[in-house]
Amino acid sequence: MKANHRVLITRGVFPEIVEYLGRKYDVEHNEDDRPWPPEELVRRLQGKSGAMATVMDKFDEPVLAQCPDLKVIANIAVGYNNVDVPACTKRGIKVTNTPGVLDNTTADLTWSLLMAAARRIAEGDAFVRRGDWKIAFGVQYFLGQDIHHATLGIIGMGRIGQAIARRASGFDMRVLYHNRSRLPEGVLVNSARGGVVDDAALVAALKEKRIAGAGLDVFEGEPKLDAEYLGLSNVVLTPHIGSASRAPRLTMCRTAADNMAAVLEGREPPNPVN
Ligand code: DGY
Repeated sequence: MKANHRVLITRGVFPEIVEYLGRKYDVEHNEDDRPWPPEELVRRLQGKSGAMATVMDKFDEPVLAQCPDLKVIANIAVGYNNVDVPACTKRGIKVTNTPGVLDNTTADLTWSLLMAAARRIAEGDAFVRRGDWKIAFGVQYFLGQDIHHATLGIIGMGRIGQAIARRASGFDMRVLYHNRSRLPEGVLVNSARGGVVDDAALVAALKEKRIAGAGLDVFEGEPKLDAEYLGLSNVVLTPHIGSASRAPRLTMCRTAADNMAAVLEGREPPNPVN
């Protein structure tokens, strides 16, 4: 028999997750995967005690104030910057996340961006596609930055930072973290959150070649991004796909579902944030 709970899945997820939750609860699922504006999110949350959400769904005080039935926000993400956690705590709403399951996949993507930016892969690809490759080989063509024996600076040496650092040993790199000194001619990669990088400062540094290249997966205000990046050939851009491979994404959904179910069934969730 189904427990007496109605839950909302705010974005499109894997059918097996909808089925899994559907065996326990009345589930409303955003099959279209069209992000809902705050008013629609609030409307759909009426009468729902659980929300399985993504980092694109904002749960701030005005939203929370209009959702009196909500007991748990289970983010399908390790991050939870979309949620006002202190406001949730005050209202007795549990917040959960999905740590651990995406570390290696995100570290792999970070390395992809690092290598693409340092070795000018996207630029070279565009050059060939445009038909600009007229002379087979040039001693000074597409000179990039060496990765081997370079210094890797990591801001945030958590689980993902450590996974990135482990991969550096194969390249004989020196790893620094939370380094305050300036590294001239470096390559900057951001696979964390947009706000971590000052876009205007990075654009200026890239233009002036104080930073040789950048690989960016996340942007403040995404999917909008600083238009200046589009005109820079020394930047590789990807659309927030750090954890995007099937296994971790399925595990993230399953983890979020289990977190939500634990709260609704009166148990401590495996991954509480508050
Ligand atoms: C995360 O897990 O925080 C990623 O940014 C995906 O939302």
